[in-house]
Amino acid sequence: MRFLKDSGSLCLLEVMFGSIWGCFYASFLRYWLKWFIRQVTGRCELQRICADCKSGAPRTTKAEYSLKNSKSSVLRAAVDVEEDHLDQCLDVIIREKHIKSQKDPTFRSNLKVCLLQITGYTNLFASTEALRKENFDSERDEHEEMLLKLWDLLMPDTKLESRVTKQWGDIGFQGDDPKTDFRGMGMLGLTNLVFFSEHYTQEARQVLSHANHPKLGYSYAIVGINLTEMAYSLMKGGALKPHFYNTVSGRPQLLHFHQLYCYLAYHFDKFWVEEKPASIMEFNHYREKFHDKIKIQLLDPAVSLILTEESKKQPTK
Ligand SMILES: *[C@@H]1O[C@H](CO)[C@@H](O)[C@H](O)[C@H]1NC(C)=O
Repeated sequence: MRFLKDSGSLCLLEVMFGSIWGCFYASFLRYWLKWFIRQVTGRCELQRICADCKSGAPRTTKAEYSLKNSKSSVLRAAVDVEEDHLDQCLDVIIREKHIKSQKDPTFRSNLKVCLLQITGYTNLFASTEALRKENFDSERDEHEEMLLKLWDLLMPDTKLESRVTKQWGDIGFQGDDPKTDFRGMGMLGLTNLVFFSEHYTQEARQVLSHANHPKLGYSYAIVGINLTEMAYSLMKGGALKPHFYNTVSGRPQLLHFHQLYCYLAYHFDKFWVEEKPASIMEFNHYREKFHDKIKIQLLDPAVSLILTEESKKQPTK
């Protein structure tokens, strides 16, 4: 009895049993259960997932788990299949699992969407990584043009007096020349800033006006680059999968990553304004708070972090 009262060891015991159960389930019971259900329903796990789960994250997340944990190497390899071999891969899965297409006519097209989303996420991460590694280079005209475009979009009524000027501080860069401010995020940071100003011009200017508030302000561009890092690290860790599975019914592209950034930039500003930090010195704290909030949102299987009129009204607390 003494033992039972000791909640510490009880807890430990639960954890032990929990992990033994987890191991047991993953390695043996899962296969046996799958076999049993297949005998009863006549459908394999993938078929059940494709037919019964709602399209988007609920279906694709389960399909991904099922494929990655399959005993069959063909199924495990499917999560890395190249686009050119996708149809071939679907044929092999259908053969391997003895699926009768007449009896389950939507299986193939549903699984195809799942595979496009799963492999698309991996490819999208590779694209963001490539853009991040591309340093801002003043010798390259397209880089310089993007930087000037950012100014024109945010400050339509003010001309830039010269390429190197204190004016850059008005849109939140640190020194006279923004080229040194992209460190770490490279062209991914600049591309996000330009995308937000170009596609959500009204919102970007509104955020800039908050950032330039004498008391509650922050460095617009520097914080923007920091939020690019937030988006990038969420992407890298796989946390954005449910968001992309719900919002793009095929392969996500770079533009979808830029859209996600716009959501973060807009909502971080809203959060900051509502929280009223005493000064920019508290940036770390509020950044973490905002980061946690986004991570919680990403646990919802219905998550969709798209900047719409509806999502703009969302309370941020
Ligand atoms: C973003 O801000 C956090 C917290 O201040 C910091 O640790 C991180 O290095 C910053 N990242 C970039 C790219 O500025």
